[in-house]
Amino acid sequence: MHSSLIITSLLPLLASTNPLPLSPRQTTLNPFTLIAGRSGSPIHLSSINANGESFWIGKNTTTYCPSEEVKDCPPGLYTELLAGDGGASMYTEVPGGQTVYVLPTGALTFTLAHAEGQPFENNGTTTGFAFTPGSDNALGVFSFTGLNSTGFLACPATSGAAPWQVFAAITGIKNSDVPGGNVSACLEFVAFGASGAELGTANTGGPAAWEYV
Ligand SMILES: *[C@@H]1O[C@H](CO)[C@@H](O)[C@H](O)[C@H]1NC(C)=O
Ligand SMILES: *[C@@H]1O[C@H](CO)[C@@H](O)[C@H](O)[C@H]1NC(C)=O
Ligand SMILES: *[C@@H]1O[C@H](CO)[C@@H](O)[C@H](O)[C@H]1NC(C)=O
Ligand SMILES: *[C@@H]1O[C@H](CO)[C@@H](O)[C@H](O)[C@H]1NC(C)=O
Repeated sequence: MHSSLIITSLLPLLASTNPLPLSPRQTTLNPFTLIAGRSGSPIHLSSINANGESFWIGKNTTTYCPSEEVKDCPPGLYTELLAGDGGASMYTEVPGGQTVYVLPTGALTFTLAHAEGQPFENNGTTTGFAFTPGSDNALGVFSFTGLNSTGFLACPATSGAAPWQVFAAITGIKNSDVPGGNVSACLEFVAFGASGAELGTANTGGPAAWEYV
């Protein structure tokens, strides 16, 4: 069975079909969480979480709340993104937002708040992202085609075992760029996107975190 059909049968999915401009502060956007699709592998249907300015399978979401100034930060349990106009960002409350980009090593990363120059300074690529919402209750798909990327890779910290770090599938990734030190051990996968509704976050309509770190 096709993996998206399996997912459809597991989850009652809702999908917004609005193509909307990228703006982290707009609640009318279509935030989504990421789920890896690679049938018959240990990463299949695992959630992808922001952790240490990177994206990981098998690590929890890490967030920051300036609790002195902000009394009502979201719990920060989920990693939610937005994508549109070729770019992608974290779905956060922090002013200025957080841009998602790809490093020259292929690593998928994001800016910390108040660090708007970061992608440029790191020679990062901020364009080439897209999110195609699912139709008929299927999951959507998040993609990156910049740098001639053919998709996404999950690279294991130790051979074939979690945690796995997410990279764009570009040519020239060195062994020294990936956790585990072995590019051949990375698995290409499809990055499915589930809208917040499936995770029960849509009733708030707001971001799942103040800031990802
Ligand atoms: C993620 O968080 C949960 C709940 O706090 C904890 O039980 C689990 O061990 C954590 N997983 C990892 C990989 O740190
Ligand atoms: C970005 O690219 C320039 C030109 O190749 C290089 O000099 C610089 O060191 C790079 N910066 C980083 C952070 O890799
Ligand atoms: C992408 O592919 C084109 C055509 O093969 C090539 O000219 C270009 O240099 C490639 N770009 C990168 C970033 O690899
Ligand atoms: C790298 O990973 C590949 C695929 O899992 C494996 O066949 C190879 O033995 C690994 N190389 C090293 C040096 O561990």
